[in-house]
Amino acid sequence: MLDVAQIRKDFPMLNGKTMQGHPLVYLDNGATTLKPQVVIDSVCDYLTNYSGNAHRGDYDLSHEVDEHYEKSREIVQKFIHAKRKEEIVFTSGTTDSLNMIAYGYGLTHLQQGDEILITVAEHASNTLPWFDVARQCGAVVNYIELDETGRLTLENVQKATTDQTKIIAVAEVTNVLGYHAPMKDICEWAHSRGIIVVADGAQSVPHQVTDVQETDVDFLAFSGHKMCGPTGIGVMYGKYELLKDMKPTRLGGGSNSRYNSCGVVTLKKPPYRFEAGTPHIEGAIGLASAMGYLMNIGMDNIYQYEEELRQYCIEKMQKLDNVDIYNPDSQGAVAFNIKGVFSQDAASLFNSYGIAIRAGQHCAKILDEFLKVSTTLRASFYFYNTKEEIDAFVEVCKKGDDFLDAFFK
Ligand SMILES: Cc1ncc(COP(=O)(O)O)c(C=O)c1O
Repeated sequence: MLDVAQIRKDFPMLNGKTMQGHPLVYLDNGATTLKPQVVIDSVCDYLTNYSGNAHRGDYDLSHEVDEHYEKSREIVQKFIHAKRKEEIVFTSGTTDSLNMIAYGYGLTHLQQGDEILITVAEHASNTLPWFDVARQCGAVVNYIELDETGRLTLENVQKATTDQTKIIAVAEVTNVLGYHAPMKDICEWAHSRGIIVVADGAQSVPHQVTDVQETDVDFLAFSGHKMCGPTGIGVMYGKYELLKDMKPTRLGGGSNSRYNSCGVVTLKKPPYRFEAGTPHIEGAIGLASAMGYLMNIGMDNIYQYEEELRQYCIEKMQKLDNVDIYNPDSQGAVAFNIKGVFSQDAASLFNSYGIAIRAGQHCAKILDEFLKVSTTLRASFYFYNTKEEIDAFVEVCKKGDDFLDAFFK
């Protein structure tokens, strides 16, 4: 059981922030999340009290930074249950991580005729890098069919797999329909055929227990800002043997142990070879602080509470006859439209009542091939949301007709 009233006190933006004269109701957590004071303080502490560079200096201040930065890596390792901390690479976010995997591993391992499998429900960040890599090396991107509800099933993965399949890259939880992929089963199937599995964890890692050893994914990408951490920091997890066999996509200071004027370069071991340049130190520290905060609450508790919120919301929405819900049994965001109202107009209506929800294609621009609607509204929750906020949201759903009235007047 979560003490949500107590939890909300931890978030400055839930204590006094208003929008259009109403207390903020923030239901766009799929885009980014609010930050608790403890995360803000950890970032400020670095910037105020020990803001040296990492892995650079031979003086106490620099060692202090190294300690915090490497401790942050250990906390990430613990959070996702990785075997070793060297499997944790700090990046700028999910997009950066997926690009590193596609160009650093995909491009160097795929050959003419090889196949990458994705779905039409993927975010652009797990689609566009694969399109480009495929173009560059002569591989092809093919699609695993979604079932009639929009889910990715093992059966459909099996059907789509061919002898040419070398990489399966899919979201653990999709960002519009919010369905969970059966990751463990997919990995078991893929590995028995020598296929590498890349998991986009942007919408899963913030909301549930993540255990990379249990699911056995080969790579996992996620962002700090979607889990109470700062923006500009994220993680690329990779099995150590794969990281050793992967090319860094950026080179520079911090990633090499030596080089000479003939261009002979010796790279450091993973993860450092992938972290060229001054890292986002306060980002890593803030992310570790966010993970500590989440672990204190308990990821199982967070998952259960969000599930309860979602069910409460969907049950109330299902009673409205002016609303189309596209994923009534979602385990993530709720995708919907107000009948006859363009999604962005509807989002403005919600805004006028202080409610932040997302409208549009949500960076999943080929999902319309499945959904058969070009844009949707998306309400996405986090553990600090309340049933009262959902009541306020549902009341505005009912007012969707106000738009039509105003239009036809
Ligand atoms: C499923 C999914 N993948 C990737 C991303 C990209 O994350 P970021 O913008 O933090 O790199 C998002 C962001 O919304 C997402 O939802």
